Amino acid sequence: MLAEYLDSIINGDCLDILARIEDNSVDVCFADPPFNLEKKYTTYNDQKPVEEYLNWCRQWLRELVRITKPSGSIFVHNIPKWLTYYASILNEIAHFRHWIAWDAMSNPLGKTLLPAHYGILFYTKELKGYKFYEVRAPHKRCRVCNSYLKDYGGKKDQMHPFGALVSDVWTDIHRIRHNVRRDEHPCQLPVPLLERIVLMSTDPGDIILDPFLGTGTTAIAAKALGRHFVGIDLDAEYVKMATEKLQNVHETTYQGFYVSYFLGKIQSIRDIDAAQLFPAQLTSVEKKRMRQKDNGSKPITDKQVSPALQSRLLEQPGEYHTDAVRDQKR
Ligand SMILES: C[S@@+](CC[C@H](N)C(=O)[O-])C[C@H]1O[C@@H](n2cnc3c(N)ncnc32)[C@H](O)[C@@H]1O
Repeated sequence: MLAEYLDSIINGDCLDILARIEDNSVDVCFADPPFNLEKKYTTYNDQKPVEEYLNWCRQWLRELVRITKPSGSIFVHNIPKWLTYYASILNEIAHFRHWIAWDAMSNPLGKTLLPAHYGILFYTKELKGYKFYEVRAPHKRCRVCNSYLKDYGGKKDQMHPFGALVSDVWTDIHRIRHNVRRDEHPCQLPVPLLERIVLMSTDPGDIILDPFLGTGTTAIAAKALGRHFVGIDLDAEYVKMATEKLQNVHETTYQGFYVSYFLGKIQSIRDIDAAQLFPAQLTSVEKKRMRQKDNGSKPITDKQVSPALQSRLLEQPGEYHTDAVRDQKR
């Protein structure tokens, strides 16, 4: 049945659709369910008794694990309160990898700490042999002067030329704040968030399924990065919006590698791809040789500027145009 759903958005109840999908058939499942916070969806009633909500969550969580391939992962986004319950369900049937804290300010609720992050649970179906790629994000720079915001002390020469490996705290991807960028949907996620997850956990050509697609964020990320998707949503209006948006999505690559872009800059790149595009970090032996060079000894010759670096240097520091934009500029 999965083949029939590939690269399409299905209007229906996720439990009905998931039941028709074969075991071990999807590479990654990403779920961003309703939070039971009385959000104003057009179809779904976001105010269930707690037991009913959790029973329902248990059912689709089990289905997601069932349809995921042994090499695959399951990601679930929600507020920490519900994630604590999800973790206890998932711990029985999958393997915990990370609780990703996605920094996102919200409103003071009174008599609480200010909620300042959403959580993304990252589980794998199997303990070993799962797909995972480290991802890099650019070093943070001052918007005005473009210098690094972080003080690297005397160790700047050890910095990766592009950016640091991403940790389990994500502060660089922002919620969609401007109304011009958001759809008529109460909780649309930003595409770079999903792109980072897709880059981390899949290869081009893999399949990502989202049972609560909303206005299409996961499908857009998958298509932009050359992956297949299956999206499900209960609401016909959201399905229509997502389907329309998808028609204008093109693959985003930089020098042939799939990357996540935001406002003209790379937001996430896989480390294995960055290694091909940016010069290698110098080892301590190489640094010693460089110092010797300053003393008049034989200079190093094996770290010459690669063609990829040359073209990168032609661009503004920190700005990398997609292959498509670059082609237009030519
Ligand atoms: C939190 S939103 C997802 C937003 C989405 N991540 C985005 O970026 O647009 C949850 C979505 O789940 C849908 N939904 C609620 N119950 C559902 C069900 N039983 N089956 C499928 N979709 C459902 C709602 O219509 C809503 O669009």
